Amino acid sequence: MSIPIKSKLPTIKTNIFTVMSKLAAECNAINLSQGFPNFNTSKELVQLANMAMINGHNQYAPMPGIFSLRKAISQKMESLYNISFNPENEITITAGATQAIFTAIAASIHKGDEVIIFKPAYDCYEPTVELFGGKSIPIQLDPSTFKIDWQKVKGSINDKTKMIIINSPHNPSGRILSKDDMIQLEILLKGTKILLLSDEVYEHIIFDGEKHQTAALFPALVERAFIIFSFGKTFHNTGWKLGYCIAPAELTKEFRNVHQFNVFSVNHPTQVALTAYIKTSKNYLELPSFYQAKRDLFLSLIKDSRFEFSPSTGTYFQLLNYKKITDEYDCDFAIRLTKEKKIASIPVSVFNNNNFDGKDLRFCFAKTDDTLKEAAEILCGI
Ligand SMILES: Cc1ncc(COP(=O)(O)O)c(C=O)c1O
Repeated sequence: MSIPIKSKLPTIKTNIFTVMSKLAAECNAINLSQGFPNFNTSKELVQLANMAMINGHNQYAPMPGIFSLRKAISQKMESLYNISFNPENEITITAGATQAIFTAIAASIHKGDEVIIFKPAYDCYEPTVELFGGKSIPIQLDPSTFKIDWQKVKGSINDKTKMIIINSPHNPSGRILSKDDMIQLEILLKGTKILLLSDEVYEHIIFDGEKHQTAALFPALVERAFIIFSFGKTFHNTGWKLGYCIAPAELTKEFRNVHQFNVFSVNHPTQVALTAYIKTSKNYLELPSFYQAKRDLFLSLIKDSRFEFSPSTGTYFQLLNYKKITDEYDCDFAIRLTKEKKIASIPVSVFNNNNFDGKDLRFCFAKTDDTLKEAAEILCGI
């Protein structure tokens, strides 16, 4: 018997990624559900991390992250987008993007504040808003184009609106926000006190020659934004759980006030390794062509299947629509495919408003070509 506590998140169950990955392992199914590569991070990066440990970088890193990494990030932003951020007071290294999102929300949201979230949405935003007494205001995206209806957003803004959360490239749809979208957002937010949380963890996974429209490029957005990135997505090492948050000095001050009490500082030797590794721009500039080749391989192999799709334009996720196959609820279908056909995916309804079921499953193509071929063979037989 233990002493009961009153749950702060009474409706939350174990997240879908954990559920589907566990089921995939139990059923010995190909796991295209959770978003992680099944190939290794670079040997050079592992060697750099090993060297950092051998060289004694094994004690606490400074609270905001090691200065050399923050400086390297600032130089990367300058060379990619021609914008300078002060590594001293505008960049903070975090334990992955998840902690950065948690910290940004914790630092900003007070009881009764409203936060606009676009659905389908990555699963950590809403519970975190709720934990700090905020109220999520979900706006469902169009189920086929996943475009934002900016008029709807305008109609949802009121004097309680404290923050808007955007995510581009977008998980789970694999769509990106255009320059015009960002300008629409700027027009809406200019002159208000509304904050922006811009989740840009798939910054470098963008296809067909498109350019990533970071919030950093838009003056009326960057002045109010927590822009959040993840090294794990960029360098195939999600298990290292390292990311960062870029925000104006005043916002960074509040962010760090919370950061110092929820992690204090994050893994030191991997920060040292990444400092050296990100100085070679090819290590991230090759990512679009690397993942576009995987997307194209996967889609060419399933083009004659009964699934319908429009090619992902960013992230390493591809939605496949199965309405021509069955009208089963997507969670049931995803579970049945895992158990009977030995292929695991993520049902998109779990990210939607009121669990709307558009008959879409999300497949992760950050996998070896052999795995993608095996998966495609199964999908063609469904
Ligand atoms: C949209 C989005 N944001 C944040 C995260 C979390 O990133 P990290 O693993 O760096 O915490 C993920 C991971 O899948 C994601 O897809």
